[in-house]
Amino acid sequence: MDATVNVNGVVTAGDQAVVSVFDHGFLYGDGVYETLRTYNRHPFLLDRHLARLRASATRLALDVPPTDHELETSMRDTMSRVNPEGEVMLRMLVTRGVGDLTYDPASCPHPTIVIIARAHRDTPEEVVRIGVHVVLASVLRNHPRSVDPSIKSNNLLNNVLAMQEAIHQGAYEAILLNHRGELTECSQSNLFAVRDGVVLTPPLDAGLLEGVTRNFLFEVGREIGVPVREAVLREPDLDHVDELFITSTTREVVPVVRVGERPVGTGRPGPIASRLLVRFRELAEALTGAHVGDS
Ligand code: PDD
Repeated sequence: MDATVNVNGVVTAGDQAVVSVFDHGFLYGDGVYETLRTYNRHPFLLDRHLARLRASATRLALDVPPTDHELETSMRDTMSRVNPEGEVMLRMLVTRGVGDLTYDPASCPHPTIVIIARAHRDTPEEVVRIGVHVVLASVLRNHPRSVDPSIKSNNLLNNVLAMQEAIHQGAYEAILLNHRGELTECSQSNLFAVRDGVVLTPPLDAGLLEGVTRNFLFEVGREIGVPVREAVLREPDLDHVDELFITSTTREVVPVVRVGERPVGTGRPGPIASRLLVRFRELAEALTGAHVGDS
């Protein structure tokens, strides 16, 4: 993969980047991460991502010694070496660090901080125009008293298993139910439904990641006069929605037109997802465009 990687301040090409096999991130998935992307070559909603990174780390009692300013400087330094000059995707990981073969965090005095930067790949316009097919995974979203889904942790096996089911069925994403049978989110994106002009998304209490894009969408909805609310949704509700779509940092807003064998609404992308996406992009451009030239 064509990437530039920063491991504890050492920046190299992706294939030269090295992390110890004794890193507890590798051994136990003991760490947290964030995925960001740039617009106008500026990391979008960076402050929100850094706040979530710290909140996730706190839940693991994991120290993140650098200041936000230092993390931002490292990110900008790493991404400045990514060619060509298009938009960049950034993945920042903080792990427990190198230690002994024990779960005891005291054996890891220093966290490992990794920043992976590579060219951002837009969701193809064709995908947005036609919409995607998703499946309902048989694997459940983690119970919040297990590995809490609100922590953006490197411990992603549950998500990997759900996505394997989607891949196996030729689908774009997998929706996960929780232990109560409620819809939560997808393996790497949040879920939204539209019913009678109102946009509904599962509440945080369902057990899901509080997506930065999800939160931003409440603001985008307000801007264009489309109500966006939290609501408990269950599988049978899928038969009574007009639109369904997913959101994430890298994918923005992607319409879903089929869940398993069940068509959603008209079976075509709907107007509300489309309006939200248009305004979302305008705002992302405007909020980052103000900085153009000062990197
Ligand atoms: N995925 N839910 C899950 C389980 C996710 O992994 C993600 C993000 C989201 C959307 O969050 P946000 O809007 O903050 O990107 C929801 C990222 C893109 C990833 O795993 O790389």
